[in-house]
Amino acid sequence: MRRIAWMTDIHLNFLEAERQMEFVRRVRSHRADSILVGGDIGEAASVGDYLRFLATRLGVPVYFVLGNHDYYGGSIAEVRRAVRRLTAEVDGLHYLSECGPVALSSDVGLIGHDGWGDGRFGDFLRSPLVLNDYVHIREISGLSRADLLARLNALGDEAADHVRGTLTDALRSFRHVYLLTHVPPFREACVHAGRPSDDDWAPHFACRAVGETVREVMTAAPDRRLTVLCGHVHERGRCEVLPNVEVHTGGTEYGDPGVQGIFDIRGRSRGE
Ligand SMILES: [Fe+2]
Ligand SMILES: [Fe+2]
Repeated sequence: MRRIAWMTDIHLNFLEAERQMEFVRRVRSHRADSILVGGDIGEAASVGDYLRFLATRLGVPVYFVLGNHDYYGGSIAEVRRAVRRLTAEVDGLHYLSECGPVALSSDVGLIGHDGWGDGRFGDFLRSPLVLNDYVHIREISGLSRADLLARLNALGDEAADHVRGTLTDALRSFRHVYLLTHVPPFREACVHAGRPSDDDWAPHFACRAVGETVREVMTAAPDRRLTVLCGHVHERGRCEVLPNVEVHTGGTEYGDPGVQGIFDIRGRSRGE
């Protein structure tokens, strides 16, 4: 039986070096065969060092996607390019946004993409929120609200295209697929204070393009199962969006990251 440990929003830049090591020791105590990291690991200048740190200290394969914070102080294209170089250099480090389906066992597969808050749920143009993303990430800063929405839509579409291709491919080989993503792809999974986000928050915190793709592909595959693992909202949740699609949202507290779920490959999960 293989076991995977899932974490998200670990924000290692908020921890002193000793607390980072303590975090690694706690993760290792779960004796997982593989580790899934769902983004918001550090910031543009530090995410590469943290990924290298995780891969070398954990000693098992690390499959990851990036979150919006991982681009802070830099550019999406440049961070992705640097991470691509790093994964070619460091054994056991895999960026799922740039990989095809991974076999976790003979009938369980893994896919993933960062996703992005794509502005499509709620009412983006009336929302008064200005995320730090729109100041600290080069490609989406300094734009009019309409241009920003178009850019966010495009980032969501890019994620959805990747998910469509890899999920379709994975379902040909695997009975059960895990999708690791940073941004919740469904409004039901985009929780705040125990309830789905309202029209001001939802445009920034959910990726509708990925959610619609998942619904379409999984509706056509009723004999297959998908488990979605997401984060970004920092509030724990679990919901079923289709009879064959279950979504877990990680509830990591800033400064106190931990394992959000342990999954035995044949199905059962439990929190830390
Ligand atoms: Fe986060
Ligand atoms: Fe995030």
